[in-house]
Amino acid sequence: MFQQDSLKGKTILITGGGTGLGKSMALRFAELGANIVITSRKKDVLEAAAHEIEKKGAKVFVQTSDIRKYDEIDSVVDQAWQHFGSIDVLVNNAAGNFITPTELLSPNAFNSIVGIVLNGSFHATQAVGRRWINNQRGGRVLSMVTTYAWTGSAYVVPSACAKAGVLAMTRSLAVEWAKYKIRLNAIAPGPFPTEQAWENLVPDGFEEKWKKRIPLGRSGRHEELANLASYLVSDFADYINGEVVTIDGGEWVSGAGEMNMLTEMSPEDWMKMAERFKK
Ligand code: HXC
Ligand code: NAP
Repeated sequence: MFQQDSLKGKTILITGGGTGLGKSMALRFAELGANIVITSRKKDVLEAAAHEIEKKGAKVFVQTSDIRKYDEIDSVVDQAWQHFGSIDVLVNNAAGNFITPTELLSPNAFNSIVGIVLNGSFHATQAVGRRWINNQRGGRVLSMVTTYAWTGSAYVVPSACAKAGVLAMTRSLAVEWAKYKIRLNAIAPGPFPTEQAWENLVPDGFEEKWKKRIPLGRSGRHEELANLASYLVSDFADYINGEVVTIDGGEWVSGAGEMNMLTEMSPEDWMKMAERFKK
């Protein structure tokens, strides 16, 4: 879909880039010519991912951080900037999430998720953004949210609150920082199978039920999301700012439309309706 040098010379920092969708994006960005920076808490996971990404011909910088702590992500940004000479793109991808009845949540459980998702995305955005502003150069931020950032969702209240906040940050800074040539967008994925998300979020027997909610009848493929992300962080998307792009096979609008359950009607049912109208 893309010319192989679409992201050539760009340095892209991906939080939580050692696993799941973060790693899939890193691999695709690397194929398209970018230098990659990945950070998260687990050094061994980051190093294994870096090895895979390097095989695509990319230069990779790795440093651990707990994104809940500003100083740790600020140090990653500082070291990566020195290593590559700048950072062009930040992808806010790191996340934590689990399902639980909300009345059972401890204050620390709520804070843990909001700390990773909302505070962490803010920390990384501010650490990179300040450098872009001080160096009078533009930049791009792409944040991973979900469709329940605007619909809300039962059983994931901390994540829903945090993702709604990340979306609000995206739209707010898209205006505030446009004068610095910094643009911010978000992707709202539906279900894309990854090890940790499935472990934390999908109870036994629910995967098939989940797929039935999706009009296209399947979950997302990592390369589909990685290609969308590649476009949004590239020069080709330079007039897209403050937007959230949903990639969910039609899942959330399917839950929203008043008459959408009529997709269950058979041709015979529609014939009967036609008879009724004639009468
Ligand atoms: C209730 C829980 C819990 C659970 C942990 N806690 N798991 N409460 N149900 N399943 C509570 C703990 O008891 C503790 O509170 C507090 O949360 C912090 O737990 P820790 O284990 O100390 O936290 P930490 O080591 O920081 O781990 C964070 C984590 C963990 C989120 C709990 O799962 C993690 O690191 N996850 C990262 C990967 C991940 O979650 N990926 C999924 C992203 S998917 P107390 O009070 O006991 O101290 C995603 C997709 C969304 O976002 C959309 C899908 C369509
Ligand atoms: P994942 O594999 O669980 O990745 C989450 C990453 O975040 C891990 O690499 C983890 O690494 C890192 N992380 C967690 N806590 C951290 C902390 N305190 N500091 C630094 N890094 C931390 O998740 P995924 O399924 O690929 O999801 C990626 C993104 O897409 C997330 O933002 C998620 O909310 C969003 N999303 C996913 C889906 C889906 O279906 N998969 C759907 C909608 C939205 P460490 O453990 O090493 O720290």
